[in-house]
Amino acid sequence: MVLKEQKELVKISEYQELAQQSLSEMAYGYYVGGANDEITVNNNHLAYERILLSPKVLVDVSKRNLSTSILGTEISMPILVAPTAFQAMACDEGEIATAKACAKANTIMILSTLANFSIEEVMQKATGPVWFQLYVYKDRAITKSLIERADEAGCKAIVLTVDSPLLGRRERDIKNCFQLPKHLSAKNLIQAGMHELPNQNNNSGLAAYIDSLYDASLSWKDIEWLRSITKLPILIKGIMRADDAQRAIDYGASGIIVSNHGGRQLDTVPATIDVLPKISAVVDNKIEILIDGGIRRGTDVIKALALGAKAVLIGRPILWGLAADGADGAYQVLELLQKELDHSLALLGCPNISDISRDLLA
Ligand code: FNR
Ligand code: LAC
Repeated sequence: MVLKEQKELVKISEYQELAQQSLSEMAYGYYVGGANDEITVNNNHLAYERILLSPKVLVDVSKRNLSTSILGTEISMPILVAPTAFQAMACDEGEIATAKACAKANTIMILSTLANFSIEEVMQKATGPVWFQLYVYKDRAITKSLIERADEAGCKAIVLTVDSPLLGRRERDIKNCFQLPKHLSAKNLIQAGMHELPNQNNNSGLAAYIDSLYDASLSWKDIEWLRSITKLPILIKGIMRADDAQRAIDYGASGIIVSNHGGRQLDTVPATIDVLPKISAVVDNKIEILIDGGIRRGTDVIKALALGAKAVLIGRPILWGLAADGADGAYQVLELLQKELDHSLALLGCPNISDISRDLLA
């Protein structure tokens, strides 16, 4: 809890600086890092800087409305929390702290398969909407049981991540021989005996874990299998092409998340915001589009909505908030982005989220 001694933090990047000071090199490197040269990590940010806004004047912006609904769930703002693994490296309460922050901010939390607390532990404490992010294990019985547990515990949707048949080559983690602190594990997999990352000499323990246990044969027909075993809506996370977005619709997905995994999988893929226009043209409002990667400002949220997203997800900023001050820090990050969004909408002459359109881009 390093935040208490600090002056007020005024932007997300200051939470990151604070997190860097308080986290171990192993944990910070895992959270901040991306694949190979981290070109996509950087592009995710730079692409937003290149898109400019075109404000309208003499619009009554005295009352503003940021609320929206995603898959029928009303939330306070078009900002959700992305699934990120191993949150207890940032603060002891880990995913439970994130669930508290999201409930307080009245938005949706997406809980990772690789959480440090089990689905049941998180859902017991969660008073707001939670979706479950699924990784498909080669052992389909384990995969099926994860989905059933999420459903029984009260998760409202399954987010299937499809960009990780193998883990991206994260050179920081290879150098650090990434491993969880001894007291932590991937708790959802305890019954399956797959909760510990193998110790590695010259590799990331997570890469060794995923490369041996995840099903690299996963393909479109498996979406049919998933739909046959659960009634929960399925969102597909990791779409980067218009033709794949069309396939997601054809296979019955309820939504897609345009994502390059925060630049952590294949390096040198484009920034997500740069592929969004083509994808939203094909989707044509048939299903809901979410997007993540590099969103750090209220204006970034506006740009994503202007180009066709219904809402955005933030990944690393929540980890910085957790590292700064647990649930309170994560809540402050959400509140900060909400305030920036609200302020920017006023200056843009667009008081309602629902009125954001491409016409507001320069
Ligand atoms: C992730 N991401 C991720 N995605 C997923 O589907 N399951 C997971 O377990 C994880 N784990 C994870 C850990 C860490 C440390 C990071 C940074 C990211 C990807 C995540 O959901 C999201 O796509 C990106 O983080 C979005 O980019 P920003 O907001 O971090 O730039
Ligand atoms: C990551 C995995 C767990 O990005 O999704 O580290």
